[in-house]
Amino acid sequence: MEWEGDSYQARFDALAAKGEDVHGEAAFVAALGPSSVLDAGCGTGRVAIELARRGIAVVGVDADESMLATARERAPALTWIAHDLASLDLGRTFAVVVMAGNVPLFTPAGTEAALVAGCAAHVGPGGALVAGFQLGRGYGLADYDAHCAAAGLELEGRWSTWSAAPFTEPAGYAVSLHHRRPI
Ligand SMILES: C[S@@+](CC[C@H](N)C(=O)[O-])C[C@H]1O[C@@H](n2cnc3c(N)ncnc32)[C@H](O)[C@@H]1O
Repeated sequence: MEWEGDSYQARFDALAAKGEDVHGEAAFVAALGPSSVLDAGCGTGRVAIELARRGIAVVGVDADESMLATARERAPALTWIAHDLASLDLGRTFAVVVMAGNVPLFTPAGTEAALVAGCAAHVGPGGALVAGFQLGRGYGLADYDAHCAAAGLELEGRWSTWSAAPFTEPAGYAVSLHHRRPI
C-alpha cells in the first residue's frame, strides 16, 4: 500500500483541532511506565512524538518513506528508521514495542508472523509488545496470539479500546499486551 504522510497526518490534526483526543495509544503506553519505546510501524510518528513529549525515549521504524518524511519534518530531533519490521535488527531492545494503527493489517500478506517476530525480538527482559488492530479484516487474534507465542511472548491482557475498555466478543477492535515469557 502507498501512503501519503502529510494527508494521513492531516486527518489526525483535524480531529485534534476539533478537540478530540488523538493520543489514546500514547496514553495507554505511557501508563505502562516504560523507559524506552519502539514505535513499530510509526507512520508519521504521531504516537512516538507524543511519547517523547511525555519524556519517554523513543525510536520510530516504518517501511514507508512518505510517512517517515512527515515524521522527520514534525520531529527532526527524534530517531526515525526506514526498515521492514519483518527483518528488523536494531541490535538493542526496548521496554515496550508498540504497533498502533492496524500495522499487522498493512504488512504484506504472508509476512505477519515475521512482522510479529521482528517486533518481539526488540522486546527487552520484562518488556511488552502492545498492538491495536481491527478485527474481521483477514488477520485475527488466534493468528496473532500464535505468532506471539512462536516469538516467545504470552498474552497478559486484552482490551477493546486504547482507553482500556474490557474486551468482550464479538469485538471489532482489540488492544493486546503480550509480555516476554521468562526463560
Ligand atoms: C495505518 S499506518 C499507522 C501508522 C502509525 N502507527 C499510527 O498509528 O498513526 C500503518 C503503518 O504500518 C507500516 N507498516 C506495515 N507493515 C510494515 C512492515 N512490515 N514494516 C514496516 N512498516 C510497516 C506502514 O508503512 C504504515 O505506515
